[in-house]
Amino acid sequence: MSGAFDQMYREVILDHYKNPRGHGTIEDPDAEADGQNPLCGDEVSIYVAFADDGETIAEVKFSGRGCAISQAATSMLMEMSVGRTATEVATMEKEELLEEIAIPLTPVRLKCAMLGLTTLKVALHKAKGTPLPEGLAGFDELELT
Ligand code: FES
Repeated sequence: MSGAFDQMYREVILDHYKNPRGHGTIEDPDAEADGQNPLCGDEVSIYVAFADDGETIAEVKFSGRGCAISQAATSMLMEMSVGRTATEVATMEKEELLEEIAIPLTPVRLKCAMLGLTTLKVALHKAKGTPLPEGLAGFDELELT
């Protein structure tokens, strides 16, 4: 990746960090989960409201605190999730989010980037009563409540 390209993505990440999309809470959400990255103690809570079909994500919000990568990745995820079905998002490959982030991440940073996605998946699986997919097994250090 060229330096200029890399720089552009760093600016996109910084913009999401400074102006997070979907920051806030939803009262009486249809799906909700809290996730924590025990490496740093950062926490994120995610709230989802479904459309009348009970499957399409009408609204999704997040609150919590964390580093720039975790907050920016969660902000990007909010934009990527609205209008999609709970099933689609619950089974989203982590690569899809990583493509959106578009800068190389160290293993520690990868955990930061996955905090929001893992928490959102847990919220959706809890709401739908479906078991967590195997893809989440690699993140078992991530404490999810
Ligand atoms: Fe805590 Fe990144 S340092 S989530």
